[in-house]
Amino acid sequence: MATQTQTQTTTPDAPSKVVGSIATRASYEPLSRNNALDAHEHHSVTPHIGEEFPNVQLSSLLRSPDADKLIADLAVLVSERGVAFFRAQDLSLEDQKTLGRKLGELSGKPAESGLHIHPTTHAGAKKGDEISVISSETFDSYSANDRSLLASEGWHSDITFEPVPSDYAILKVHTSPETGGDTLWASAYEAYSRLSPTFREFLEGKKAVHEAKFFERVAQARGHTLRDEVRGHPANAGAELSAVHPIVRVNPVTGWKGLYVNPAFTRRILGVTRDESDLLLNHLYALVSRNHDLQVRFNWTTYSPESGLGDIAIWDNRSTFHTATQDYGRTLRVGDRVVSLGEKPYYSKDGKERRAALGLGPAAAERNLGQIALQLHGVKIAE
Ligand SMILES: [Fe+2]
Repeated sequence: MATQTQTQTTTPDAPSKVVGSIATRASYEPLSRNNALDAHEHHSVTPHIGEEFPNVQLSSLLRSPDADKLIADLAVLVSERGVAFFRAQDLSLEDQKTLGRKLGELSGKPAESGLHIHPTTHAGAKKGDEISVISSETFDSYSANDRSLLASEGWHSDITFEPVPSDYAILKVHTSPETGGDTLWASAYEAYSRLSPTFREFLEGKKAVHEAKFFERVAQARGHTLRDEVRGHPANAGAELSAVHPIVRVNPVTGWKGLYVNPAFTRRILGVTRDESDLLLNHLYALVSRNHDLQVRFNWTTYSPESGLGDIAIWDNRSTFHTATQDYGRTLRVGDRVVSLGEKPYYSKDGKERRAALGLGPAAAERNLGQIALQLHGVKIAE
């Protein structure tokens, strides 16, 4: 387990913030958009999560004279909107890695945080250490018989078992079925907003253990060994694959609070009994999987293999969850993913609720509209 020493850092114009002593940022002041991207058409896919750019080639963005300004704006936009979609992209693997690095660098990530090497990536893999090949061919049979058939079990944020987990991820799917294989994302900010103030107060500051020892069996099933060397940050090393993180996390780019637990990697909330931990985690997972109004679903376009094209999704792993949809039988679905590492997750009471920051009003107010509708139909609502 990662050792966690807490330190207090103070900046002249910001209140004191408690952050981890490893992988700290130079600044914890939220960033604003520079709006450079507004020269390109884009629109919200849903009110709470997802932004689509119908006419942008990311390869051109990278080569623009204003590349750094555009990518800095993209980083803030992705952190605010959770995930951004780009159709028919010709981005090369090298450019995908460059973009992955720059998103974090231009939004203030710690200097020592690089691109992640996944513990199951084969040493000597054709595409290199920093590309995770997401393929239906490597879906592992080691646990197939014991897998839940509830698709909602798949919700996760990438690599939360690492002491220094991901800020941004970029996935290009170049081979996809004619129908099916969609990916869904959910907003961790909005899931947090669905908690009452009383329950938020109870949860904030508490921590949970994240763990992924099962990857050792995955590596074995693929005929190689787990990568126990440094995986993109000096703190991410060894075969233990576990870390302790706050269950409410502040995204430093937006300054907004979000839930940071997921059924794939979170094992236990600390400071409560096993039963209480299960109860709490199940409720938090339900907020993500049962609220389709904080999710966005993306269908990957099918391209010919010769085109080199693929749709691309870029998301902020600090403040979103995602899950694939395995509804396409034995059809091939393959993509290349780059996962960038950010800062050590932290909680700060100075973090904001996204809805309050955007002046949206509480989530419960939207639910109360249902009560008004009932009253309009003559149904009396008890006080
Ligand atoms: Fe993932």
